[in-house]
Formats: sequence, structure tokens, C-alpha cells
Amino acid sequence: MKILITYFSNTGNTEKIAKSMKDGLLDYDVDLIHAKDVDPTTLSSYDIVFLGSGVYASRVDKSILAMIKKAVPEFPVKLAYFCTHASLKLFQEPFKRITGVIKKHNCEIIGEFDCVGENLGIPLDTQLAMLENLPEDQREKAKKDREKIKGRPNEMDLENAKNFAISLVKNL
Ligand SMILES: Cc1cc2nc3c(=O)[nH]c(=O)nc-3n(C[C@H](O)[C@H](O)[C@H](O)COP(=O)(O)O)c2cc1C
Repeated sequence: MKILITYFSNTGNTEKIAKSMKDGLLDYDVDLIHAKDVDPTTLSSYDIVFLGSGVYASRVDKSILAMIKKAVPEFPVKLAYFCTHASLKLFQEPFKRITGVIKKHNCEIIGEFDCVGENLGIPLDTQLAMLENLPEDQREKAKKDREKIKGRPNEMDLENAKNFAISLVKNL
């Protein structure tokens, strides 16, 4: 079985998840390639493609959509999404546009994984100033939530990602 794990990662969180998935799949033939380095025409040569990104303004990075559009109509048959996000729960639909493209083709989403990733892309001063601008009742909760995302993805997140990849491939 040939597997591709490809991802966009601005500050390294999603890359950590991608690497942990690869660590779980040592028994398989796995390529781990940053989205900017992937040749879209090769996607269809894989049995499974894991597609990942950080969430930026509710969406995955545009390089992911561009890659998928360039792969049309030669799609991988099985795709798994993964993403990291700074909200404690994923409430957005970051892959919506990707799904819009692939649903017209013979392609199946076989799994989805997400986890929290500390926001390292916005300077700390700016983030703290944003908190101070919130109404008092929301500010305390936002500060507590900020503490909960510090250092994520953590060891547990990486383990969860690894187990997600293992069980997805085993259960095919
Ligand atoms: C410009 C910018 C926009 C972001 N927008 C969102 C968002 O809409 N929702 C969210 O949950 N997190 C958002 N985040 C946080 C990132 O999704 C999160 O930190 C993620 O782990 C970054 O992944 P990366 O390190 O792989 O780039 C944003 C971060 C940046 C820098």
C-alpha cells in the first residue's frame, strides 16, 4: 500500500501531526511531503492521501485547494483530512471547498482528524492586546482558554494522531 501524507504548516504544528502519523505507519510505504513540494499529478498513484493544514481564517491554506484543483480529474480514491486550529473545538469547516471539488469525482473521505495548535503565528503582544479589548465577562474565559492551548499539540495530541493513522489504514 502506498500512502502520501501532505500538509501545509506555517508555524510547525500541523507538521508535527503529519510526522507523528508517519511514525505510526512505519510498516507501510509512506511519503511525507510539504504541500508546496508535491507534484499534483502524482496524487492518483497513492492508495491513500492524508491531506493536512493549519486553519487560517476558517480555511485550510490555499495551496491545498490549488493542489487538489491541479490534480483533477486524476484524484486519489481515498482521502483523509487533518488539521490543527487554535479554537478549543473545531467549529469551522476548513476543508469545505476541497470537499466541494472532490465530490464531483470518484473520491472518498475515509477519515478526519483535528487537534488544537497554539497560535504561534500572531505575536504574543498582539494576542494579549486582543484579549484586553474583549468585554470583561468574555476576557476571563478567553484568558483561561489561551492557557489550555499552550504547548499544543502536546504528546497526547501526537499520540492521538498516530493512532488515528494506524487504525484508519488497518481498517481499510
Ligand atoms: C493568520 C492566522 C489565522 C488563523 N485563523 C484561525 C481560525 O480561523 N480558527 C482557528 O481555530 N485557528 C486559527 N488560527 C490558529 C492556527 O490554526 C493554529 O495555530 C494552527 O495550529 C497553525 O498551524 P501551523 O503551525 O501548522 O501553521 C490562525 C492563525 C493565524 C496565524
